[in-house]
Amino acid sequence: NQGMLWGGRFAGGPSPELEALSRSTHFDWRLTPYDLAGSRAHANALHAAGLLSEEDHAELLRGLGALGERHAAGELQPAPGDEDVHGALERLLLEEVGTDVGGRLRAGRSRNDQVATLFRALLLDHARTVAALVLDLAEALAQQARAHLDVIMPGRTHLQHAQPVLLAHHLLAHAWPLVRDVQRLDEWARRTAAESPYGSGALAGSSLGLDPEAVARELGFARSAANSIDGTASRDFVAEFAYVTAQIGIDVSRLAEEVILWATREFDFVELHDSWSTGSSIMPQKKNPDIAELARGKAGRLVGNLAGVMTTLKALPLAYNRDLQEDKEPVLDSVDTLEVLLPAVTGMVATLRFNAARMAELAPQGFSLATDVAEWLVREGVPFRVAHEVAGSCVRRCEELGVELGDLTDEQFSEISPDLTPAVREVLSAEGSVASRNGRGGTAPDRVREQLAELGAALEQH
Ligand code: ARG
Repeated sequence: NQGMLWGGRFAGGPSPELEALSRSTHFDWRLTPYDLAGSRAHANALHAAGLLSEEDHAELLRGLGALGERHAAGELQPAPGDEDVHGALERLLLEEVGTDVGGRLRAGRSRNDQVATLFRALLLDHARTVAALVLDLAEALAQQARAHLDVIMPGRTHLQHAQPVLLAHHLLAHAWPLVRDVQRLDEWARRTAAESPYGSGALAGSSLGLDPEAVARELGFARSAANSIDGTASRDFVAEFAYVTAQIGIDVSRLAEEVILWATREFDFVELHDSWSTGSSIMPQKKNPDIAELARGKAGRLVGNLAGVMTTLKALPLAYNRDLQEDKEPVLDSVDTLEVLLPAVTGMVATLRFNAARMAELAPQGFSLATDVAEWLVREGVPFRVAHEVAGSCVRRCEELGVELGDLTDEQFSEISPDLTPAVREVLSAEGSVASRNGRGGTAPDRVREQLAELGAALEQH
């Protein structure tokens, strides 16, 4: 069996049960283009070291190129007897160029340094795709913010009415974490592309005079690994990537949860576009926020993948152990999950229709202007402790009367405190409240316009 890389010291072949357990082609076949690129670089290193003749080198490169073309055309498949992508590609290469030439390529490398390099390269590509999709979602939020700069909504803490805010301000509060997620992906990519383990061999390096630095450069890495044991045994790059993808899932799920709430009859803040919502098989009237719910659900899956990777790594002795093969499926699942989830969430967000009237009506309710009364008193020279008490008394009075703060009469205000002159009414509107919060980072319309420009600049950096 030419797909088998280690038969020599064994009297018999592996049991079918072992083969079934050991086989990883159903997920690591995705490393094929990266494995071929690694093999090209390795062939060049063998040639440069004088271990491959001109003709054999050319023939290996030809064979690897042919495999690349057949793979791109969808004509390359692993066989059931192949243990992993590395064995499968060696078998296919031997079929392509013959065992004599093909059998020279494996000198000085191990699947341990190969897989550690190739998985880095694959995740680096996915990191770019995921980052672009995250930026699309941030951009959709920014567009909705830009389109709703005049809409005021109830801002909440503890899910209770707290202070009025601009809808745009709230939407941008979901965009900034996504910007940071993209920054995290960038920083991860810089660290991960810094070192190529190729040349580390099984764990101790190579005795063949190969140049790992040249291989690293050819594969797009800044340098080769400083330590061959670390190069083959470390997977913190996988755990860190799993963390960033989980964080993206969490950030998206927090947005999703709000969309779900906002779309309820009780909130009635948004309507989902027909093409971005689902119906019920029994209840004809239903319009369900399934995208948002799936986003909320997938976040659990992404966190689970992170937990899986970290649990696999915990207390694993140096250097390579086969446990490390378990690094792939969770993280590949995380990228696959985000690559279908993010475009759907972006479409849902881009097509949300906001019920501005409903939000504006609720914004000043629930005594959300009480802080404005207290801060107005502070500007009138009243100590905040007293102002807080006075504004609290206004709320109590309103509750007794069953009215909102703006409904209190001038007499009722002055009964509560002589400091509460009729001029207090200037802050008793949601517009006045929002406009007054005009420090940097505040919800005043001018500040939010500046914030949009700042976010736009941050998005353009990527
Ligand atoms: N398929 C393995 C992995 O993904 C690489 C092969 C290393 N196998 C070995 N017996 N050293 O980690």
